[in-house]
Amino acid sequence: MARKAPISSKKRKSASRKKPPDAEVTAKEDFVWTRKDLLGLDELSPHEILHILDTAESFREVSTRSIKKVPALRGKVVGLLFFEDSTRTRMSFELAASRLSADTILFSAKGSSVSKGETTLDTVRNIEAMGVDVFVVRHSESGAPHLLARQVQASIVNAGDGAHEHPTQALLDIFTIRQKLGRLAGVKVAIVGDIAHSRVARSNILGLRKLGAEVTVVGPPTLVPNAITSMGCRVSHSLDDVLGEVDVINMLRIQFERFGGGLFPSLREYSRLYGLGGQRLAKCKNNVLIMHPGPINRGVELTSEVADGPNSCILRQVANGLAIRMAVLFLVSQR
Ligand code: CP
Repeated sequence: MARKAPISSKKRKSASRKKPPDAEVTAKEDFVWTRKDLLGLDELSPHEILHILDTAESFREVSTRSIKKVPALRGKVVGLLFFEDSTRTRMSFELAASRLSADTILFSAKGSSVSKGETTLDTVRNIEAMGVDVFVVRHSESGAPHLLARQVQASIVNAGDGAHEHPTQALLDIFTIRQKLGRLAGVKVAIVGDIAHSRVARSNILGLRKLGAEVTVVGPPTLVPNAITSMGCRVSHSLDDVLGEVDVINMLRIQFERFGGGLFPSLREYSRLYGLGGQRLAKCKNNVLIMHPGPINRGVELTSEVADGPNSCILRQVANGLAIRMAVLFLVSQR
């Protein structure tokens, strides 16, 4: 029998009375999470996505308490496996596990026996033998968490695999949009930049479309594959053309580490056409939400004026990421 997220019965009653904000997809009251793993938004139903968002909503309150801890995962062990660099995702999962009273062990590929030729699977099986219940996995190879999920008993949470998916980033982005705008259905979202190499873009498109938002991807033809329209989004190669019509602009970093370079003439040229500064912001709706998954290349995709300005939700995204990751760790542990 799955346990409920630890919210007070008073709060639970008021949460269940509250009308869900999404007109087209509504949370099921009697929904029970059954998945062992969280590998991507591709495999999740709209109800599963909403269940994660609603569970995160109940965990958000924990971070406002003087003692920011609940015993939900006491006795469990969360292994943080980072085969690729990270600041936000790693620390957010580590803090989320700590707030749920789980023990954590941290693996970084740098300085590990990977340098002696140990495979990813052998590495994970050996760490699992120490009694790990949930692995949070970031890997530069697309599909690595999916392979591991088939080979180990522990739950696997994808913390970003190659250019494939970054489900918890998209969940925290979608949570932030719903929190700020009160709805998702019909919300117009532009995702701007290096779409071709972005796991954040893929997971956002999947999740937003499932919940009824409209998505336009924007970038130079070399960084926006035409096939992306099969995911149900529009393509534009002109940022100026979409500025005035969208409610949310999610600016992406150029993932040089995945292609090296040569896909546009220069950073200055890229920034002139696809960067967001004060002049472009002035053409947007007054209350447009400016998002970025981080890390930001200031002066390339965003000027500091915009990144740190009143429309920016960037630090709110990071704060919400903690609640999302608490929800995900909690849910995959309920089996
Ligand atoms: N947004 C994100 O995944 O950031 P990190 O690479 O720092 O984890």
